[in-house]
Amino acid sequence: MITESAMPKARSYASSFLLVILLATSNYISLYRGMRLSSDCRRSSTINSNTLSANDTLTTNFISNNSNNDATTAQIIIDSNEESLATNLRRPQQQLHLQHDTQSQLSSSSSSSSWSNIPILPPNNNLKVVLVTGGAGFIGSHVATALLQRGDIVIIIDNMNDYYNVSIKESNLEWVKEAAAAERKRKTMDSSIAADNNDEDENNNPNLSIYYGDINNSTLLSAIFDQQDQHNAPITHICHLAARAGVRPSIRNPHIYIRANIMGTLNILDFARRYNVTNVVMASSSSVYGEVINNGSNEGSSFSEEMHIADTPLSPYAQTKRSVELLSYTYHNLYQLNITNLRFFTVYGPRGRPDMAPHVFISNIFRGESIEQYGDGKSSRDYTYIDDVVNGVVRSLDRSYPYQIINVGGGSEGTTLSNFIGLVEQHVGTKAKIVQRPNQMGDVSHTRANITKAKMLLGYVPSVSMEEGVRRTVQWYKETHG
Ligand SMILES: *[C@@H]1O[C@H](CO)[C@@H](O)[C@H](O)[C@H]1NC(C)=O
Ligand SMILES: *[C@@H]1O[C@H](CO)[C@@H](O)[C@H](O)[C@H]1NC(C)=O
Ligand SMILES: *[C@@H]1O[C@H](CO)[C@@H](O)[C@H](O)[C@H]1NC(C)=O
Ligand SMILES: *[C@@H]1O[C@H](CO)[C@@H](O)[C@H](O)[C@H]1NC(C)=O
Ligand SMILES: *[C@@H]1O[C@H](CO)[C@@H](O)[C@H](O)[C@H]1NC(C)=O
Ligand SMILES: *[C@@H]1O[C@H](CO)[C@@H](O)[C@H](O)[C@H]1NC(C)=O
Ligand SMILES: *[C@@H]1O[C@H](CO)[C@@H](O)[C@H](O)[C@H]1NC(C)=O
Ligand SMILES: *[C@@H]1O[C@H](CO)[C@@H](O)[C@H](O)[C@H]1NC(C)=O
Ligand SMILES: *[C@@H]1O[C@H](CO)[C@@H](O)[C@H](O)[C@H]1NC(C)=O
Ligand SMILES: *[C@@H]1O[C@H](CO)[C@@H](O)[C@H](O)[C@H]1NC(C)=O
Repeated sequence: MITESAMPKARSYASSFLLVILLATSNYISLYRGMRLSSDCRRSSTINSNTLSANDTLTTNFISNNSNNDATTAQIIIDSNEESLATNLRRPQQQLHLQHDTQSQLSSSSSSSSWSNIPILPPNNNLKVVLVTGGAGFIGSHVATALLQRGDIVIIIDNMNDYYNVSIKESNLEWVKEAAAAERKRKTMDSSIAADNNDEDENNNPNLSIYYGDINNSTLLSAIFDQQDQHNAPITHICHLAARAGVRPSIRNPHIYIRANIMGTLNILDFARRYNVTNVVMASSSSVYGEVINNGSNEGSSFSEEMHIADTPLSPYAQTKRSVELLSYTYHNLYQLNITNLRFFTVYGPRGRPDMAPHVFISNIFRGESIEQYGDGKSSRDYTYIDDVVNGVVRSLDRSYPYQIINVGGGSEGTTLSNFIGLVEQHVGTKAKIVQRPNQMGDVSHTRANITKAKMLLGYVPSVSMEEGVRRTVQWYKETHG
């Protein structure tokens, strides 16, 4: 699998990695191999705001309105698109247009199939050394695990901020480490070579390194990249998932979003350029599409990458995501970097973010607590099971398209709120106590991702149905909280 052209230095890696040492220049950095992380390095972000309720490293698409209360009743907002719809997030003109001619208002006339003529890349299966930013988060920890399990080398950087209970991120990392250790054990047994290394590292996989730190910290990033170079395992790929998530908190505190999401990404792109990274895959979000109000028909309500509504983002969060899509275009154009932006749609699954609606639903129904439902339950949205998202991310890492924006959605017609609740009830085995609330103005009915492009360019086909996804998620919840 390792070829000279793609990874010239990789062959000597396995042995030399065992020599991994702390950077001489910094005692803040430690590697997973048995070394303790300095508490200085574990600080969460120092940007603080009393009004800020969402300060996270992950980009996912679903948030409840209860992130700053611990009341037993969760307030859930289901809208057609990403996250909650604050009432000040309106797009009146667009709404009017949409009622008349969805496609022509949303798409540029020339670009609707601008990608249909580009060469479809086959996967490159060479060994990869992947920097996963936000690797302690929901999507990040799943991606890191999948990469380790197929033998890639993974370097995680995460600032462990306290948007949600940091112990969840800690346990995500434990989960990654366990998977890595299991993989190492499996390989050792496969090769039936007796452990020759005094088994001090039996539970450690040298192919995983974890750094606690901020992506805005150039000193730290230089150290990581240089260290990888020194150990003949230069970072070849970046999976950039670190970001502040959440629409409403971004309205309350836009500065932190601009700084983390835009400045942070700029830093990552700069390092990608300086260190000749082959491919950068970045997390974007369905929230860039804003809201599309239709007239109750489902027609024209799926989001395609070419839609111009992405150019009028409705919240600072969505704006940062759209901005870095554009910034990455600039870096692609200036420096020939290969960059793919993936727009994620409502990601859910085991170890999902605790503030997100699927998790809150399951948790509350499981504990017999009530849930609030806005509207009549007929609104629907595109849920994407975590394994499908990971599949999309890995497929994208394996295909170095020069510059792309690609939806990664669940691929179904969408699931209504009522059906979602019904599925949870069925698998938890308890009836939900639903507190019905009036529809909020602007709540949108039916939208979903158009995943034609992902199918064509990545061979991406979502494979986990809602039924199966909810079943697995509830099972995970029972096992860990039951
Ligand atoms: C990075 O951001 C943190 C806040 O998250 C801030 O304290 C720190 O000074 C920043 N570092 C750099 C190098 O900009
Ligand atoms: C994150 O948000 C919580 C409120 O939800 C706040 O108490 C905490 O200080 C914030 N942390 C940071 C690092 O901004
Ligand atoms: C969201 O929560 C805030 C404070 O908890 C509350 O004032 C507001 O009405 C809630 N919004 C909705 C739509 O429930
Ligand atoms: C965070 O989670 C841990 C483990 O589940 C729990 O013991 C702790 O009380 C939680 N902390 C907060 C602030 O919720
Ligand atoms: C670690 O990566 C090397 C490639 O550098 C690979 O040969 C080896 O199998 C990996 N080890 C484990 C335990 O995954
Ligand atoms: C940046 O990282 C370096 C190296 O780990 C560390 O010494 C420094 O304290 C970090 N800076 C900030 C602002 O956290
Ligand atoms: C990146 O590639 C350029 C051009 O091939 C080369 O001059 C430079 O040394 C490389 N940088 C690193 C860090 O490998
Ligand atoms: C971009 O990807 C192609 C393979 O598709 C690769 O040949 C090229 O070197 C990559 N560009 C950079 C700057 O790494
Ligand atoms: C609703 O919108 C669709 C597509 O925009 C259109 O075809 C349909 O005629 C509209 N229906 C009504 C009742 O206005
Ligand atoms: C989905 O996207 C493809 C390619 O851009 C397009 O041909 C198709 O019409 C779109 N489907 C819908 C329902 O918008």
